[in-house]
Amino acid sequence: MRRYVIAGNWKMNMTPAATRKFITELAPMVAGKDKCDIVLCVPYVDLAAAIEAAKGTNIKIGAENVHFEKSGAYTGEISAEMLSEIGTEYVIIGHSERRQYFGETDATVNLRTKAALAAGLKVILCLGEVKDERLAGITDEVVAMQTKLDLAGIEKEDLKNVIIAYEPVWAIGTGLTATPEQADETCGVIRKTVAALYGEDAAEAMIIQYGGSMNDGNAKELLAKVNVDGGLIGGASLKTDKFTAIVDAANA
Ligand code: 13P
Repeated sequence: MRRYVIAGNWKMNMTPAATRKFITELAPMVAGKDKCDIVLCVPYVDLAAAIEAAKGTNIKIGAENVHFEKSGAYTGEISAEMLSEIGTEYVIIGHSERRQYFGETDATVNLRTKAALAAGLKVILCLGEVKDERLAGITDEVVAMQTKLDLAGIEKEDLKNVIIAYEPVWAIGTGLTATPEQADETCGVIRKTVAALYGEDAAEAMIIQYGGSMNDGNAKELLAKVNVDGGLIGGASLKTDKFTAIVDAANA
């Protein structure tokens, strides 16, 4: 049986002081809710504060990106080793905002994933179609292609450290949510693609999250779907009560 993973993506929000306050408030609200893994992915400068505040709780901490080289002349970038040394457990890779605004491609997403896995990080690999692709009826092809390219060359044994987050770009930050049926169907296409690449056992074990305007009002229905194993949550992860309500939906 797959475990739910409820992960927040704070994007460019919260200072270190706000991070400490948030996690101190959240920790007792989610204590003992252990039917899911709980992850908060935070800006680089908040990582140390988050890791410190989350010590002894069931909240795990992740970064929002990582560079693919081990070290070198890459001004402004952060390596996987830097993240793992300070106790970061997870890293988001390939978020659509990185693809859209910062020129990331499936090729760089693939390189980053390999670098993160080699450093012992768990990867939350994001992919999903844009609105025009859904309207053109090519969602299945798009997510299958992204899955193949993003996982290219990754060993089966490393897949246990990969979560795929299906995030339809048209649903991110827009208040539009994929219907539970759409989320289930497209997460199912991703799972079939993983099965074709790595076998049924790997596909059955793979955690596939849905992300895109998931909130306290729609989480229960989305999480009830067989192919939806959790959520990657933006806006609603910035409020302790809303985030806790999503954790509760995964624990019901
Ligand atoms: P929203 O939940 O704000 O739509 O963001 C989703 C997302 O991008 C998570 O990575």
